[in-house]
Amino acid sequence: MTQKLLFVCLGNICRSPAAENIMNHLIARAGISDRFICDSAGTGGWHVGAPPDRRMRAAAKERGLDFVGSARQFEAMDLREFDLILAMDRDNYRNILALDPQGKFAHKVKMMCDYCETYPDKEVPDPYYGGADGFNYVIDLLFDACRGLLKSLS
Ligand code: 4NP
Repeated sequence: MTQKLLFVCLGNICRSPAAENIMNHLIARAGISDRFICDSAGTGGWHVGAPPDRRMRAAAKERGLDFVGSARQFEAMDLREFDLILAMDRDNYRNILALDPQGKFAHKVKMMCDYCETYPDKEVPDPYYGGADGFNYVIDLLFDACRGLLKSLS
């Protein structure tokens, strides 16, 4: 059975594409790519069509990873399409659930940091207005959360 995972942040150019690419990396390394489909989206539409932020790609490159993708906006249909929707912060979580007024799909929506095993964070901090340190931190945090998520699903 294929599990469809959707990672969601605000702009879909920093945190959620990082989560998607890191998850795909861990899944490929485990040899179980046939069991998962990963995607990402932003609750905002300002960056639609854009690749991951160059600072995020630079931080990834330092670890030998190539982050790929093209930003898109989260839409109500995603609640139906995906099995699990991972919000990077509480605003994202609220904005996702705002598209599900009857709460039919609320059980599919989780906070990404619920899967952290080492990091104490409750949210993935938005690195957009900060320096390179913020991007490196987000990658380390997301590796922790993605490892935990993969364990919980396999
Ligand atoms: P992301 O970061 O939500 O992790 O992709 C942001 C990207 C863009 C903006 C804010 C956060 N923005 O305001 O344009």
